[in-house]
Amino acid sequence: MRSDQGQPVRLSDYRVPDYLVDAVALDISLDRTATRVRSTLRLRPNPEGVAGAPLDLDGDELVATALRLDGAALDLALATPDRLTIAAPPAGPFVLEVETVIDPTANTKLMGLYRSGSAYCTQCEAEGFRRITYYLDRPDVLSVFTTRIEAERDDAPVLLGNGNPVEAGAVEGTGRHYAVWHDPHPKPSYLFAVVSGRLDALRGEFTTSEGRRVALAIWVEPGKVGQAGYALDALKRSMRWDEDAFGRAYDLDVFNVVAVSDFNMGAMENKGLNVFNDKYVLASPELATDADYAGIETVIAHEYFHNWTGNRITCRDWFQLSLKEGLTVFRDQEFSADQRSRPVKRIADVRVLRARQFAEDGGPMAHSVRPDSYSEINNFYTATIYEKGAEIIRMVRTLVGPDAFARGLQHYFDRFDGTAATVEDFLGCFAEASGRDLAPFFRWYVQAGTPRVTARTHHDAATRTLTLDLAQDTAPTPGQGEKLPFVVPLRFGLVLPDGAEQPVRTGEDDGLSDAELANDTIELATATRRIRFEDVEPGTIPSLLRDFSAPVRLVTDATDADLLTLMTHDTDAFNRWDAAQTVLSRLIIARVRDGGGDPEALRTVFAAVVRTGRHDPAFAAQVLALPSEGELAREIGRDVDPDAVHAAREAVRGAVGRMLAAEFRAVIAEGAAAGPYAPDAAGAGRRAFRNAALSLLAAGDPALGAAQARAQFDGADNMTDRVAALAVLSLIPGEAREAAFAAFYERHAAEPLVIDKWFALQASIPERSTVDRVRRLLGHPAFTLGVPNRVYALLGAFGANPTEFNRPDGAGYDLVADAVVTLDGRNPQVAARLLGAFRSWRLLEPGRRALAEAALKRIAAGPDLSADVREITSRSLG
Ligand code: PHE
Ligand code: ZN
Repeated sequence: MRSDQGQPVRLSDYRVPDYLVDAVALDISLDRTATRVRSTLRLRPNPEGVAGAPLDLDGDELVATALRLDGAALDLALATPDRLTIAAPPAGPFVLEVETVIDPTANTKLMGLYRSGSAYCTQCEAEGFRRITYYLDRPDVLSVFTTRIEAERDDAPVLLGNGNPVEAGAVEGTGRHYAVWHDPHPKPSYLFAVVSGRLDALRGEFTTSEGRRVALAIWVEPGKVGQAGYALDALKRSMRWDEDAFGRAYDLDVFNVVAVSDFNMGAMENKGLNVFNDKYVLASPELATDADYAGIETVIAHEYFHNWTGNRITCRDWFQLSLKEGLTVFRDQEFSADQRSRPVKRIADVRVLRARQFAEDGGPMAHSVRPDSYSEINNFYTATIYEKGAEIIRMVRTLVGPDAFARGLQHYFDRFDGTAATVEDFLGCFAEASGRDLAPFFRWYVQAGTPRVTARTHHDAATRTLTLDLAQDTAPTPGQGEKLPFVVPLRFGLVLPDGAEQPVRTGEDDGLSDAELANDTIELATATRRIRFEDVEPGTIPSLLRDFSAPVRLVTDATDADLLTLMTHDTDAFNRWDAAQTVLSRLIIARVRDGGGDPEALRTVFAAVVRTGRHDPAFAAQVLALPSEGELAREIGRDVDPDAVHAAREAVRGAVGRMLAAEFRAVIAEGAAAGPYAPDAAGAGRRAFRNAALSLLAAGDPALGAAQARAQFDGADNMTDRVAALAVLSLIPGEAREAAFAAFYERHAAEPLVIDKWFALQASIPERSTVDRVRRLLGHPAFTLGVPNRVYALLGAFGANPTEFNRPDGAGYDLVADAVVTLDGRNPQVAARLLGAFRSWRLLEPGRRALAEAALKRIAAGPDLSADVREITSRSLG
């Protein structure tokens, strides 16, 4: 299962390991440039593997300094930097001792053992453990780990490992000390972690439903414990919720979370020792926004939930990645929905799904939720694996119903605890619990692409029947020309013109099954299906795909008037929001096409939305956030001119802003007296509503908007309102904007996470001068290519700037391409992530398309490309 020389790894090549590891003892003596790792592996042949096979251990840039087999020294030449092969190991159990020396300071890939700030830390998923020592570095090899960590006491007073602490003490006669950690739960190497350094802890305690007292700690850079409180609170809430909602209790005596400032991803679920990107831990009202708080809550929960879905039950191979990620995202979404507003959470999640996953699924990087090959596994931590994976689980629940879903999950935990499982194992539990054949449903895992579902209605006044003709089709994706129909659960209702719900009755032919009727869910499992509803009032409007019950693009024949009715009356909040999005999207696209589309028709309903904002501000804020330029581009589908999309969207925002100026001013004025900041959902909703109003008001009247925004910027007692005001100012060219940016920098120069907002906002300005601004900022003292968060803030945000990344002269593509090439030598994972900016290049008009392609080709032609960047460029061009 390796990807040497760019050879893809294939699911069909999976074989069980030929050796098993019964126990691992690691002795890690930390040093900034020469850390010594002694590994003692108790191995034995796997009875299910190939007898007498060579033992082939993975390495990556390793240097071996000693090798012993059952106590006898081995030739060091058996070890190369990326492999340790023992041709004929003993036929029974044996002990292999390996010593390696590694340099954490030189590790700029941030995989394996590296330095971050004042600490040593590790990142092993997916294949980082092999950068620490030689190992069977694959998720289906589970072992019990004991780790001794030793370091200079002054340099590294804190010594953390997986599992429970066993002993600690001084190393006599030196300035060094040590700690021993033992993790009783067998685990794959990707869950291994060590952290050591100068860190402060915010401590807490949690007693599980099983009566276990767990010592909790959030470890942060010295001086920052004041910013760890929300993370600790979110952790306790997560632990309680997993017991209540899923019956899952924690299983060790300690749980440590560490925040580090250099981290490629969001966070990592190492057993008992989660390591986090500090942006998902640190928060205070003056430094973090409501969105940051919500992100912390979600990511803390996500990593904690992995303890069962990922750690206790792990993946057989990396093709099964969604087994743990899709399920754990589903779990964190449910947690956040319970902690906050469920419909608003659903809307926010679907926004992300459409923006990221639909874009991926519609472009050259499209892949199935269970891919069948990859070159570099790091490239597969995608929106498809995570977000679409979560949607699949949600569909299982919709299809089998909540009771069978709960039984199926219980089954999964009972049967697969302590094992490395597959997606088939998982689905099998629900098939068994529900008595349903889920084989057709399995296509969601193996076919890529977003299905399009079209719905046509016809009402016959004479017979009072409503005929609904449904059809599905899925465009080809790379390597998958033909698609079979998906099983699409469509939650639905029939909405009468006055908003009442029409009772659903269908006849003998073209009817719904009892189960479908009971669940208010149409199961579309074939390419087309006709349904006839009986005794239906004229003017009745079907509300389809309620709560976004399947990850599809729904195209209906609803008129604008129908949509305005749904927007006002649908009992399903998601569809109320989605109807508004569709109306707005139609309006903006009409402008792009022929300058038509008059927002005046929306006046009454939007005024009503603003009024509902008084009691459900978070929801109203979601309605007032127009569809993004990326979504509109996908809706247009081909030959997109991003400048035209931007201009049309801004014109509509401006028109809405002028049309409802009085309402928005009232919202802003009322919100100003809202009381002191608290990061709860209610307060966040009020701020989101008010800031949406400010943004639209400014779009309609820039001078007034700038004045209001500057007042808010100066007077804000929290980062949410301050940064929202700066975002409004950032869109209005002139001195006021530059003065606000300067003031913001001045105030927050010492806080890198806040300066990231400053970088990102500037990189997002939709003006031709932004490319130069970003090039200038690359040389700013606060910027470095060495910290992933800085790169994502400045270059990631620029890559997501629709008009400036896609400048008609190609200067935006060149800027990102140059950065990718420079970064690739230092951190290939981050370089490959930046390339995500190019995911929709084929949608563009021919001029930009040619320039984007040329930039990709230039990257691809470079020497010494990493496997990460090579795979993305070749797929993007392929
Ligand atoms: N497994 C992590 C998560 O989803 C993500 C991650 C992947 C982090 C690879 C680091 C490296 O929680
Ligand atoms: Zn995860």
